[in-house]
Amino acid sequence: MNTVAPSWPPTSSAAFPRISRLPAYVFATINAEKRERIEAGEDVIDLGMGNPDLSTPEHIVQEMVQHAAEGIHHRYSASRGIYGLRDAIAEHYARNYDVQLDSEQEVVVTIGAKEGIAHLMLALLDAGDTVLVPTPAYPIHTYSVVFAGGQVRTLPLIGDDEGNVAGDALLAGVDDAVRSGWPRAKALLLSFPNNPTTLVADRPFFERVVELCRREELLLIHDFAYAQFGFGATPPPSILQIPGAKDIAVEFFSMSKSYSMAGWRVGFCVGNAAMVQALTKVKSYLDYGIFQPIQIAAAHALRCDQSCVTDTRETYRRRRDALIQGLRANGWPVPLPPATMFAWAPLPDPFVDMGSVEFARMLLAEAGVVVSPGVGFGADGEGHVRFALIQDEGRLRAATDRIGGMLRSAA
Ligand SMILES: Cc1ncc(COP(=O)(O)O)c(C=O)c1O
Repeated sequence: MNTVAPSWPPTSSAAFPRISRLPAYVFATINAEKRERIEAGEDVIDLGMGNPDLSTPEHIVQEMVQHAAEGIHHRYSASRGIYGLRDAIAEHYARNYDVQLDSEQEVVVTIGAKEGIAHLMLALLDAGDTVLVPTPAYPIHTYSVVFAGGQVRTLPLIGDDEGNVAGDALLAGVDDAVRSGWPRAKALLLSFPNNPTTLVADRPFFERVVELCRREELLLIHDFAYAQFGFGATPPPSILQIPGAKDIAVEFFSMSKSYSMAGWRVGFCVGNAAMVQALTKVKSYLDYGIFQPIQIAAAHALRCDQSCVTDTRETYRRRRDALIQGLRANGWPVPLPPATMFAWAPLPDPFVDMGSVEFARMLLAEAGVVVSPGVGFGADGEGHVRFALIQDEGRLRAATDRIGGMLRSAA
């Protein structure tokens, strides 16, 4: 017998249960106000989304352009990625991390890390399965679980004064969640260097994570989107460098940030063959692969001289310094981010009670600067706003001067 939904005919997307579990998009209000101001001719400095403003390096663009003209590439591609790109990914891991990957079984190309994470959860989770996610977090880390019908158990992500993850606290939280939660958690999702907090993790911490996940039978998913954006002396480690990690873990990498290819939509997932193959299978039903010239250009990007990656990192480092110096000079003491293309700023003292959404709206209204309210990254992000370093140093200095003016007049 057909059952008729009470909301028939549907009048809003909330009529569909899976969608109604998704909270309202916190960034939507700010985005709408930003659009209004730009349309009214105001000079808005947008430091909101982590959308890189840098162009893709010329040699990568040229490789794509050359192959785009060849009709052989205009057909459907391989959903799991062409072998040339999967081989280049395996070589990238061998070269940078001394990690050996079987490009047939342990590598799958994704339409950006975001798509990959969402579909991995769909592949791994049964309805009601629990995933542990430290928050504040990049939104898809929590919503991928919701989309897949799972349950998210958040753990507070905190750091020390040097910008390292507070490892003891996080691991104690995981341990407690595994022991006290029912049904028992199935997976842990981590991401270091971290968006939005900019926290970094070192190898000893990863060793403890892998040991804990192996002992407690947790799948481990590591989003390594900011792999090449560490400003410290040692590059951020890959989770797959830890012995035994491949038995339980996969790692996502994105071409969006390191190679300024955000609009091209290329990323990949590597590691545990069973998990990689589960994602490969889901994708084989859902997509036909990325436009082949883009995959060829991504392989070229990974194999070529990597000075463009160093240049990009140094650009973000200079921007970081300009933003932090400017904010501090204007009376807002913001910690120096050890990594990523963001700064994570606690609300200045007089504005703490206002909350991050209202403070971000005030920054837009009175300084013409767009930032992301911390609560958009989960309740644990309240009390902060995130700056994305997606403007040049001159614009960042202008932004900090305007913010200084706003803070002074509000005081
Ligand atoms: C932590 C993290 N993961 C993944 C992504 C998205 O990567 P992609 O463009 O490859 O989908 C972002 C983008 O901001 C991110 O911050």
